[in-house]
Amino acid sequence: MTSPRKRILTGIRPTGALHLGHYAGALENWVRLQKEYECFFLIADYQVSDYADDIDRVRDSVWEVALDWLAVGLDPEGSHYVIESMVPQHAELMVHLSWFIPLGRLQRNPTLKAEMADLDIGKKGTPVGFFIYPVMQVANILMPRANLVPVGEDQLPHIEMTREIARKFNRDFGDVFPEPEPLVGRVPRLVGVDGQAKMSKSLDNAIYLKDDAETVRRKVMGMYTDPTRLRATDPGHVEGNPVFMYHDAFNPDTAEVDDLKERYVRGAVGDVEVKKKLVVAINNLLEPIRERRAHVEARPQLVREALAAGSRAGYAAAEATIIAVRNALRLDYLERGMPEVRR
Ligand code: TRP
Repeated sequence: MTSPRKRILTGIRPTGALHLGHYAGALENWVRLQKEYECFFLIADYQVSDYADDIDRVRDSVWEVALDWLAVGLDPEGSHYVIESMVPQHAELMVHLSWFIPLGRLQRNPTLKAEMADLDIGKKGTPVGFFIYPVMQVANILMPRANLVPVGEDQLPHIEMTREIARKFNRDFGDVFPEPEPLVGRVPRLVGVDGQAKMSKSLDNAIYLKDDAETVRRKVMGMYTDPTRLRATDPGHVEGNPVFMYHDAFNPDTAEVDDLKERYVRGAVGDVEVKKKLVVAINNLLEPIRERRAHVEARPQLVREALAAGSRAGYAAAEATIIAVRNALRLDYLERGMPEVRR
């Protein structure tokens, strides 16, 4: 008999279609690792800031994410596509784990701090649900007792917190959880086409996996490049130039990239040519993804089945863990017997 595969749990918040930053920072690793590990790919619908305001948008995004996952080649036969809210054990585990984390520790979490500063909350203040999402994320990771968490770089503080909580829980209540390792993708932080900030939907600087070839061309041709360079004959800067960062990230023809860089620095190639080559490289990467997306879009039953079967598998794994947690905490009143009546 073969020993059971080690497990991966990773996830995404359903806020819309996925982009190249997701791909190079995380998805690419997921595709690569899915044969070696048993993977739980989570769509974290409890953890979006418009959970209470715009549930239709959340629902649409769950669908978008599932389509993108199928399109990049995450195989729902071997892996589990889990909708978080279909596994309500997450909520129970979060409550238990919340006792293991000091408030100040959460308040200092740099990713949470940055997101709360960006959150467009208007007058209503930060929802408590948003503030505690990192604890929910810890529950997500510990739920299937994952060994590895391949994520984007910004998620590292949450994984560190997960490791701490797992250690504390195991120390106090017996070994229940493995201490999961993080794994960051090849391009930890992809800059947006504006060259100003990380690629993100909210900044409108993203190239989406579902963008058609013409959209990709338009976005790339409009990309921010070396601002000091006025003519093609001016010596240009490759370092820190988003167009070359994308070449490094997405153009597999390294000889072409080296040649472009060498000529750029000398002032022997124009930005237009460099960008046109990048358009080709990105479209080559995205074309098979678009084809698979079109295939599944025409067959919504495949998406529904992936989500239903995956969520059932997530539920089964969660039930086993929750029973172990209740046992460890001695909250299993029915099996252990009721507390004694005090006289
Ligand atoms: N917070 C993650 C993000 O914003 C998504 C996420 C939710 C996640 N739960 C997770 C990632 C568990 C890894 C593991 O991208």
